[in-house]
Amino acid sequence: MRNNRDDKKRKRKNKWIDGGIVLIFMILAGSVIWIGTNEWSMEKALDSIQSESESSTDFQEIEKSVDSSQTDQTKRHDEEKTPIPSEERLREVDKSLLDEAQEESQEEMSVEKAAPQDTVKPSNPTSYIKGQKLPQEPMFIHGVLLANKQYPLPEDYAPGESEEAREAFNELAAAALTSGINLQAFSTYRSYDYQVTLYNRYVERDGQEAADRYSARPGYSEHQTGLAFDIGEVNHEKHWASNSFGDTEAAKWLAANAHQYGFILRYPEGKEEMTGYMHESWHYRYVGKDMAEQIFKRNITLEEYLNVR
Ligand code: DAL
Ligand code: ZN
Repeated sequence: MRNNRDDKKRKRKNKWIDGGIVLIFMILAGSVIWIGTNEWSMEKALDSIQSESESSTDFQEIEKSVDSSQTDQTKRHDEEKTPIPSEERLREVDKSLLDEAQEESQEEMSVEKAAPQDTVKPSNPTSYIKGQKLPQEPMFIHGVLLANKQYPLPEDYAPGESEEAREAFNELAAAALTSGINLQAFSTYRSYDYQVTLYNRYVERDGQEAADRYSARPGYSEHQTGLAFDIGEVNHEKHWASNSFGDTEAAKWLAANAHQYGFILRYPEGKEEMTGYMHESWHYRYVGKDMAEQIFKRNITLEEYLNVR
């Protein structure tokens, strides 16, 4: 009887010992496979555990950025619903704009290459970057001066009208004249202070959301670079800075030929999502003949050419 009980006890004990041996064997085998898959390096094996826990943190970061781009998209949708200012309103604006622009002093300029600044690639070019301060230096990308809603200019950047651009415009105007089109640049270089006056006037009249679609905030206007030329026809002031200019022979001639003189149509139709502004059939930007030719042939915007969009 007693022997029988001892036998049972021994058998139970042996079972535990066998189970323990199997468990130890499995742990050893698992470790060998784990280290083996990390090229027999203990360091790598430990690293792989660490990187797994880090990748879950990265995922949270991605989610955060998705959230913020969704916010931007909602904003863009709201901006698209903003009514476009009527032609009449735009025309009125630019008549007074012209009077004041002509009073502005026009200094000699030479565009100097500045060091690129740290910038964030914007998710929505029609919006300004919240809290962005004006930079100390203008932004040159591959030697090309860029001014838009994401790349502002220093407040004191005051190069005046570009001489090179003016000469190119004179050539362009001479060529247009041979086709019976008498062109005039009615607004070119605008100072920071002048843009303050203009922008505030538009905001007062149309509200900020509407004004932001066609007028740059101070420090953000391409006109402050001295390279932007608003072009119209002599004695056809009613079409100046108006959508109606787009239907004129002069506008068509410009759209087809300006690139040969180094100018690009800066805010083309349907490209607001690239340039940040609604279409302006009169606003041309001097970039030089080679670049203008490429931008024209590829039918792209300056932002796309410079790869910021
Ligand atoms: N009208 C253009 C966008 C400007 O204000 O510079
Ligand atoms: Zn303009």
